[in-house]
Amino acid sequence: MIEIRNVQTIQGRRITHKIASEETRVIDGTNLTLLPALIDPHVHFRTPGAEHKENWETASRAAIAGGVTTVFDMPNNTPSCITAQRLKEKKQLIDEQLKKAQIPLHYGLYLGADQNHLDEVPKTKHQIVGLKIYMGSSTGDLLMTDPAALDKAFRIAAENDVLIAVHAEDEEMIERRKKEILSSGQCKAALHSIIRTPEVAARAVHQVIELTAKYKTRLYIAHVSTKPELDLIRQAKKSRLPVYAEATPHHLFLTTDAYQHLDTCALVNPPLRDHTEALWEAIHDGTIDTIGTDHAPHLLEEKRRAYGSAPSGFPSIELYLALLLNAYNEKKISLEQIVRFTHTRPQEIFRCKPNHDVVLVDLNQSRTIDDKQLQTKAKWSPYAGMTLRGWPCYTILKGRVYDPSDFFVPAGT
Ligand code: NCD
Ligand code: ZN
Repeated sequence: MIEIRNVQTIQGRRITHKIASEETRVIDGTNLTLLPALIDPHVHFRTPGAEHKENWETASRAAIAGGVTTVFDMPNNTPSCITAQRLKEKKQLIDEQLKKAQIPLHYGLYLGADQNHLDEVPKTKHQIVGLKIYMGSSTGDLLMTDPAALDKAFRIAAENDVLIAVHAEDEEMIERRKKEILSSGQCKAALHSIIRTPEVAARAVHQVIELTAKYKTRLYIAHVSTKPELDLIRQAKKSRLPVYAEATPHHLFLTTDAYQHLDTCALVNPPLRDHTEALWEAIHDGTIDTIGTDHAPHLLEEKRRAYGSAPSGFPSIELYLALLLNAYNEKKISLEQIVRFTHTRPQEIFRCKPNHDVVLVDLNQSRTIDDKQLQTKAKWSPYAGMTLRGWPCYTILKGRVYDPSDFFVPAGT
């Protein structure tokens, strides 16, 4: 039995919280607050095919350090995860890596949508958390732009009660704008936000909402980052369509200013914007359902290549909760909302089985982010040097306590 004494609930009560376990352990919760462990609905843990960037040994440590005990992993692997067979092979590799790490993380996998393999959806429907559609190209080779294929995917998903998760950026518009803008000879990272405009995202969001209206497919719009998308989603929700929206920490906490000091390290899809005000409004009015990290690790040497060759994406899972707790201390979000966006809504939308995992946080601890201490194999973060107030201290997964001394075991040992 694990007994956490005198710990504060998010409502401010003091309680003793007990969790069934083979361990006998008492934790003094006097300076701590108890939250359900986080569910991150959007990660790229890079197995198979890009394990030089991350694998489930390093990523599971990063997750636990961030208070996360459940993750849903994206299919843009090498090879991409688009069939029942590949799903099975991927799962085997993940289970081996989690066993090595001795971290039995809860996880779910998305199937990648490929227009020639949509018959895999009914075959895999009980093994996946959703069907991921890339409407705009990003890391990996998954892409679905043909309107007839998109229509078919939405129909099949609805017939099989499968959630569609979408990377909503319009490929045709991206390609057109790339040609126009890059032909001027300029080549710098900040152009990424100028090529992939809010309209690029809104056009794709409009298209998928129409398809949801047609088939009533449950639709999860990943990394919503602009006001025009939010307006469309707000309208769809008013019409009672089963549309759910995810925001990422980087679109909430970073803006295009980041290009100045991060240059190509600031590249991410969808790109950084200057729409944080609209996003925070959507957090408070219920337009946003979840906050998912889009943890997308790449090595620094890859990120530092010239614009055009540098990959997009940020590692972020271990800072997920600390960034939100810091926002709580800045009075931008309540603890109830943090629990709603990182636990309750993901649990409802993805129909997860409840568990007893918790995270104990110290709302007053201040720490400066130091890349050297990160567990992710990528060993960098766009937030380096920021001082955050409010950090996870203990994560309890399946009755086992992971504490700070576990977190700072150097990666690889
Ligand atoms: C993701 C990655 O690297 O896997 N990158 C990103 O910029 N978000 C791919 C993606 O989800 O677009
Ligand atoms: Zn992603």
